[in-house]
Amino acid sequence: MNDIYSRLIEHQKRFAKHTLNELFTDKNRGKKYSVLFQDIYFDYSKNFLTAETLNLLFELAEKRNLRQKIEEMFAGKEINFTEKRSVLHTALRNFSNKPVFVGDEDIMPKILHVRSNMKDFVNRVISGEWKGVDNNRITDVVNIGIGGSHLGPEMVVKALSHYNTTDLKVHFVSNVDKDDLQEKLAILAPENTLFIISSKTFTTSETMTNAETAKKWFVDNCSSKFDDIAKHFIAISTNREKTAEFGIPEENMFEFWDWVGGRYSLWSTIGMSIALAVGWENFEELLRGGFEIDRHFRSSPFDMNIPVLMGLLTVWYATYWKFNSNSVIPYSHVLSRFPAFLQQLQMESNGKSVNFAGNEIEYETGQVIFGEAGTNSQHSFFQLLHQGTQTIPVDFIGFANAHFENDVHFKLLLSNMIAQAEALMIGKSREKAEEELVKLGIEQEEMMKLVNHRMFAGNKPSNTMLLERLTPKSLGKLIAIYEHKVFVEGVIWNINSFDQWGVELGKVLAKEIYKTLDGQKSAIEHDSSTENLLEFLKSRSKNSV
Ligand code: F6P
Repeated sequence: MNDIYSRLIEHQKRFAKHTLNELFTDKNRGKKYSVLFQDIYFDYSKNFLTAETLNLLFELAEKRNLRQKIEEMFAGKEINFTEKRSVLHTALRNFSNKPVFVGDEDIMPKILHVRSNMKDFVNRVISGEWKGVDNNRITDVVNIGIGGSHLGPEMVVKALSHYNTTDLKVHFVSNVDKDDLQEKLAILAPENTLFIISSKTFTTSETMTNAETAKKWFVDNCSSKFDDIAKHFIAISTNREKTAEFGIPEENMFEFWDWVGGRYSLWSTIGMSIALAVGWENFEELLRGGFEIDRHFRSSPFDMNIPVLMGLLTVWYATYWKFNSNSVIPYSHVLSRFPAFLQQLQMESNGKSVNFAGNEIEYETGQVIFGEAGTNSQHSFFQLLHQGTQTIPVDFIGFANAHFENDVHFKLLLSNMIAQAEALMIGKSREKAEEELVKLGIEQEEMMKLVNHRMFAGNKPSNTMLLERLTPKSLGKLIAIYEHKVFVEGVIWNINSFDQWGVELGKVLAKEIYKTLDGQKSAIEHDSSTENLLEFLKSRSKNSV
């Protein structure tokens, strides 16, 4: 019973008898459990932790060789062993002038070469030097991709909308539901539109279907020759053969490599739509922000290390407190897609139940991530956070400065963020609720019925991360913090955070089911529920055969 896991279990049991409010009788607590790194202030004091908790969690990190594992990732070891790949999205933002090796190859020269081609292309499109059919200027860019080839770029382009200094309008299409593509095509002129087909594999059915339809739309609606596709379609991929098959010439193909995971790929050429929206300098600032966090993550002691602290806290809650959800609330309208981006980053990475040795694990791993921009989220699911039966730790994210002015809107926004974190923790006692009812003139008997509804148990943990302002660089930092947090969790849980076999089965079945819906004979039999559903669709669909 003396191992670190048992001691954490014991510690949790003892801790569960105490409240956050009790911990805050220490007036220094706010300062004690916060970290200032450059323009980021991370307050993790409103959590179920003491110095003893942290020591236990650091011991757990040592036991799981976290320090060594971090180095292995940066050094290009094949830590994604189920796919036999290194994990080197960090090399894409490496400004150290030091080499990074995959096997015997220093990959920095090819990263810099591709980045320089990307920069050249971006500048040519922005300046108007890149011409579309009949010498038309490109005014609109459509990124067609899904998952990691969509969520990161879309989130960043929205987040940096105040930095959209170029004249280009950037659109995103991801869903195979035609409404998504159609909605964009309806407002576009083919001769002014550049399509970016973003797909690591260039085989993803949603992306390829949308890409083919976009190509047809272009050819049908533009008085162009087929050759003009080269002026309007580029590919971002690791798969040269498939991009050529699609009809994209070699010089329009911007590559990246298999050691960049899809959900970690916005730093690569997958970030093309970002660079086109905000210009090259801003894109490079984003990368530099990521690089700052890489240095922080690699070199800061664990008690000053934001991603390490965040990752350990997640493990503490998911595994030892059985809190299986985590809500992330950016108090910034332009960051409204950040929770969606984090859903893929965290749930695709750590939604695993088999360890490195290939055995099923017996503890809780990845949490359900959800969120929405503040203050909208307060008027939707915060009720459950405050008075529901489960405890859902929250990450609050805010900025000390608005893009425009720190006016009434902005001060209200910030007040709400700070107030929610405080309210979740302090709650409202029965006495207080009774006092309020008395003031309202409610009779004793009625009061007994109402008072419980008006109480708040409080004791809900949260982190608050404040950044000076939302810039390309600070956004790069924020993203990299979460990337490394996810890595820390994976190391402690002893899982491979970099594969995603769990998404494959559905893709395979969908191919079979497609055949049925398309009137071809299905190769496999289905369960009776699936059969019935298919039957309904076939009988009611006007396209049924
Ligand atoms: O959802 C599964 C997945 O493989 C993601 O990991 C990836 O980001 C996405 O599909 C898109 O893949 P691709 O970039 O190869 O089209």
